[in-house]
Amino acid sequence: MSIKYRLILSYLAMVLVPLILFILAGLLLMFIFLGDIREVSDLMPESHDYKNTVSEDTKLFGELKEKSFVDPDGLANVEYLSALSAKLDEEGIFIVLRQGQEIIFASEETAHLSAAQLPDYGAATSSRNIEKIGNETYSLMQHDFYIPEKGSASLFLIKDASPLTRLMRTFYPLLFVILVLILVVTNGLLTYYVSRSIIKPIEHLKEAAQKIKEGNLDHTIKVDGKDELAQLSNDFEAMRKQLKESAEVKARYEKNRKELIAHISHDLKTPITSIKGYVEGIRDGVTNSPEKLERYLQTIYQKSIDMDLLINELFLYSKLDLKKLPFDFEEVDLKDYMIDYLEELAFDLEKRNVNLAFNYDGSGCYPVSVDREKLKRVFSNIIDNSLKYMDKKNGEITISLYQNQSEVILELADNGPGISNESLPFIFHQFYREEGSRNKETGGSGLGLSIAGMIIEEHGGTIEAESSLGIGTKIIISLAKQVDS
Ligand SMILES: Nc1ncnc2c1ncn2[C@@H]1O[C@H](COP(=O)(O)OP(=O)(O)OP(=O)(O)O)[C@@H](O)[C@H]1O
Ligand SMILES: [Mg+2]
Repeated sequence: MSIKYRLILSYLAMVLVPLILFILAGLLLMFIFLGDIREVSDLMPESHDYKNTVSEDTKLFGELKEKSFVDPDGLANVEYLSALSAKLDEEGIFIVLRQGQEIIFASEETAHLSAAQLPDYGAATSSRNIEKIGNETYSLMQHDFYIPEKGSASLFLIKDASPLTRLMRTFYPLLFVILVLILVVTNGLLTYYVSRSIIKPIEHLKEAAQKIKEGNLDHTIKVDGKDELAQLSNDFEAMRKQLKESAEVKARYEKNRKELIAHISHDLKTPITSIKGYVEGIRDGVTNSPEKLERYLQTIYQKSIDMDLLINELFLYSKLDLKKLPFDFEEVDLKDYMIDYLEELAFDLEKRNVNLAFNYDGSGCYPVSVDREKLKRVFSNIIDNSLKYMDKKNGEITISLYQNQSEVILELADNGPGISNESLPFIFHQFYREEGSRNKETGGSGLGLSIAGMIIEEHGGTIEAESSLGIGTKIIISLAKQVDS
């Protein structure tokens, strides 16, 4: 239930419950002082049979009324009245007959009442009235009639209502206490329930906000229900996740940046240190023979070529990373493209005693959209690795081209040393070189495969590697197949 409805309901309950109780109390008071005593009698266990008595005296009252019309003189007869009174005494009903301003007859219990104390002729507002006479409260049934030649008369059937009134008077404070108690309990419970359902989530939110302020982004908020605060908590939780994610991305970038700087400085420092060493050697006259000098100069030259290559690779890498390298896509048949490319490569491979096999289905066409130059870079980085790390006398490079409905797939496999399972997931990472590769004289910065990966990514394709130690490495590239529309 939403907070809005909960507040409305609790507000209504806070208004209605006391209102109903006040009305009940008011009605009760009204009955006690003004209304029909019969209604009140229902509430009183002691006066359980009172109702019957009342209905009996109502019956009797009706009979007497009738008699007043038929035989008013007989009704005003003292003997008749005293006989009737003797009968009614046991029932607690007393008779008074007032003729003019004079009491003609009164039962013993009501003998002390004077004519003036009783309601005037014609004053009865209902068949039964509660009257306070002196210190006592009476239930009065008054019938006014006319006795020929004697004048107006009033017959009263009187019942002492004082015990009942006293009971009501003690009952009233009790009722009031109960009313106050109910008020306190109802309002207390409602306030507790409503405030708990609002305050608790707010406290959770406050705690979570505090944690975030302190930099703890792992504190989750538990969300119950569907009200406005639950929605707010959900949004807050989503915000925390987003914050955590961006903090993690930021940390990752920061780590990458530091690693990049460390690698670049290291990879540039190494050749510069050795160039410096050789130049110092020459200057100090260590090169005492022309052959030695020639060797030193050759090394310096080689080192500067390495540096040039490294700087070029770094430049390419950073441009690819910043997505600032323009791509010039065109549709080519990858089979024809590979045939041309491998032709260029054949001489170099032969020189290194590496056998090359290219498998493809000659009748098929392998249409892909590529940037020719960039794709060449990808293949040369991969084949360069195969040649660089080759540890067999008879090297083998096997290239297979095949396709399915949507992709053209190229596999470049070698029979080199292979890559360990621990290193395999990282070879496409920038500057990653397998343990040991760094020490090898093969050289390299660890950028080759990450550059290949970024270029293939720009082509919308995928690149992955499979490898077994001692058996060889296979790089699998898949590109989207161009379908004529
Ligand atoms: N064909 C392969 N056979 C064995 N190991 C390989 C092969 N290809 C890649 N590797 C391993 O993966 C690492 C990453 O290769 P990558 O081409 O990115 O870097 P590199 O060859 O070390 O340097 P660069 O290519 O920048 O000159 C290499 O250092 C090497 O350990
Ligand atoms: Mg390489």
